[in-house]
Amino acid sequence: MQKCLVFGSLNLDYFYSVDHILNPKETQSARQMQCFCGGKGLNQAVALSQGGASVYFAGCLGQASSLLTDTLAHYHIHTDLLRLVDQPAGHAIIQVDDSGQNAILVYPGSNFSITSAQIDETLAHFQAGDLLVIQNEINRLDELIHKAHAQGLTIALNPSPTPAVPEWLPLNEVDLLFINEVEGAFFSGQSEPEAILNYFAETFPDVQIILTLGEQGSCLQAGRKRLTLPCCPVEVVDTVGAGDTFTGFFLAAKLAGHQDLDCLAIATAASGCAVMRKGASASIPTLSEAQGMLNRYRDYLWSKKTEVAF
Ligand code: RIB
Repeated sequence: MQKCLVFGSLNLDYFYSVDHILNPKETQSARQMQCFCGGKGLNQAVALSQGGASVYFAGCLGQASSLLTDTLAHYHIHTDLLRLVDQPAGHAIIQVDDSGQNAILVYPGSNFSITSAQIDETLAHFQAGDLLVIQNEINRLDELIHKAHAQGLTIALNPSPTPAVPEWLPLNEVDLLFINEVEGAFFSGQSEPEAILNYFAETFPDVQIILTLGEQGSCLQAGRKRLTLPCCPVEVVDTVGAGDTFTGFFLAAKLAGHQDLDCLAIATAASGCAVMRKGASASIPTLSEAQGMLNRYRDYLWSKKTEVAF
């Protein structure tokens, strides 16, 4: 059976409810502060698990982070491959305004303590055909991609957050690339979704692209085929973690053998549930909640979907 490894970050997320996102030189009192578990690695592992996958998690866990391990255990995620390091845990300071807009400051902390030996020891537990899920919140990402590719693992990369994405990331060694418009523009130099997809079709024809467009929905490009789906028209409370929810549910459906359109649809429904709640991992729905959302909006999604060969 195909195994699934998330090699990624774990953060403590401090959410501050604010009237508006801070401007330079400004001081503001937050109305509320809540601490949740997050980090793109942890969030995507939780979403994969909620979507029905059996998940192994590897990464570096810092001090004072039992909340993070308890969360992984709560979602039945295998933690034997986590390494404890003498560094502060990663954390994020997240401002969320009344419209659900956010600004995030991430301190990588222990997430940047991954060693070459840890990569080798971790990958030794997996074999060709297993799925590796990675984001851009750990160090040695290029080395991890090279080694996993050489070993024949299927690699799903979400190169987020973007400002720190090394341009020399070996995207040609990746099988599935999850990007939003900002990341798409970073790699392609294009701003329009179609131009971004055209760039990837020409430059990385073997990479399956999943482009998320927020309120505009999402697109999938595989070979010479393109699918698009709108998002579910729900009331947005907080979008933090919605992209991670989308990625995890998409991949869980893919692991379960579903067709591309069904993977896109359950990911759309799950992220629709996530934006209606506060928090990153705390906002990720169960599979039955995501299926309920999909049942509610299936006719709407199907009436707007497009499917083209080019
Ligand atoms: O994608 C959302 C995540 O980004 C948050 O959980 C935060 O930790 C940052 O890494």
